[in-house]
Amino acid sequence: EVGQVKPRLLEGKKIIVTAGGTIERIDPVRYITNDSSGKMGIAIAKVARDMGAEVYLVAGHIDVAPPKDIHVIPVQSAQDMYDAILALWEDTDVVIKAAAVADYRPRNAADQKMKKSGETMTLEMVKTVDILEQLGRMKKSQFLVGFAAETNDVETYTREKLIRKNCDLMVANDVTTEGAGFRSDTNIVQIHDRNGLVEQLPMLSKEEVAHRLLTIMAERVCGVHS
Ligand code: CTP
Ligand code: CA
Repeated sequence: EVGQVKPRLLEGKKIIVTAGGTIERIDPVRYITNDSSGKMGIAIAKVARDMGAEVYLVAGHIDVAPPKDIHVIPVQSAQDMYDAILALWEDTDVVIKAAAVADYRPRNAADQKMKKSGETMTLEMVKTVDILEQLGRMKKSQFLVGFAAETNDVETYTREKLIRKNCDLMVANDVTTEGAGFRSDTNIVQIHDRNGLVEQLPMLSKEEVAHRLLTIMAERVCGVHS
């Protein structure tokens, strides 16, 4: 199915996709990030574009180059990512949060390179803004899709996140499974909505996962069936 011309189910829809890991500065030469490659988000952006959507890819640290014909807004921190989404939010139809957002950031980013001194050093961290939770609070007609990265009790945590962040769909991946999650070219996901499990997908390429996810989303956003 993938590789064929995709039906333009998302024609006229404005979609924000976030991808990659955020970067939280410690000082001008050091930062905290995570293992996200951005592949899942980039695959979603590509497929959404092929399905006719107007796509904005808000990208943190990514390992692969996004397609040249996709509008990319590069960001670093969780706060930058939130600000970039807010600037686009107004007439947005769908937000898909495939990015791995840092949960904590250093309380104070130093303006100058920190010098080493004692035998130990402590970095005080404070919580970042939970972007998806905030979007869940302010959403009107927007359709929100989250990604839950879990190592255990996948269904329980996914449900809890879906409700807490007021999402329409939550994609769960067990990041410990071979062939799923960070850096992999494939993924194994479950798609949940408020009523429970919508679909358990087998191991698929990230592009195929994107296609399946966007088809389910399009049915709900546009009321069309494939
Ligand atoms: N997310 C976000 N802002 C944050 C943290 C997470 O928008 N500060 C989004 C992610 O982009 C993802 C979803 O929330 O779509 C779930 O992220 P995840 O890390 O699995 O959940 P958390 O709520 O951070 O919970 P925890 O890490 O404790 O499991
Ligand atoms: Ca988290």
